[in-house]
Amino acid sequence: MSELSVGEVAKRTGVSVSALHFYERKNLIKPKRTASNHRVYPRNIIRRVTVIQIAQRAGLSLAEIARALDTLPDDRAISAKDWARVSTVWRDDLTARIALLTSLRDELTGCIGCGCLSVDECPLANAGDRLSELGSGPHLLGAAGSKS
Ligand code: FES
Repeated sequence: MSELSVGEVAKRTGVSVSALHFYERKNLIKPKRTASNHRVYPRNIIRRVTVIQIAQRAGLSLAEIARALDTLPDDRAISAKDWARVSTVWRDDLTARIALLTSLRDELTGCIGCGCLSVDECPLANAGDRLSELGSGPHLLGAAGSKS
């Protein structure tokens, strides 16, 4: 059999049926419909779901995952070459995010127990006033949490 039911995909990937339906609503996977309106998936969906799981575990947002998957073929399994390209982009993004979070963690150390959030003194509020050109607001906090 060349196509799988949603239950078979769930069993093969370890992802719940409800999560697979959620992925479908987010356009991460696209099942076909039978004449009786049941979802069926090509066998290559297993690799696609695996990529989604890896990306989620790495902390990528569903929007980021969807953007990457849109560049991959629907009609065949994701190849090693496809995966190398996508994972390289994600690695660079994760590296940048790790650097930002490391910086925030290091700057947070001086703030523990303080609470002033002084624009002049606090490294989290505005280290070296380097964010003033972006306008007012907590730009560092927005950068860490705006990806979902
Ligand atoms: S909260 Fe006071 S230095 Fe950051």
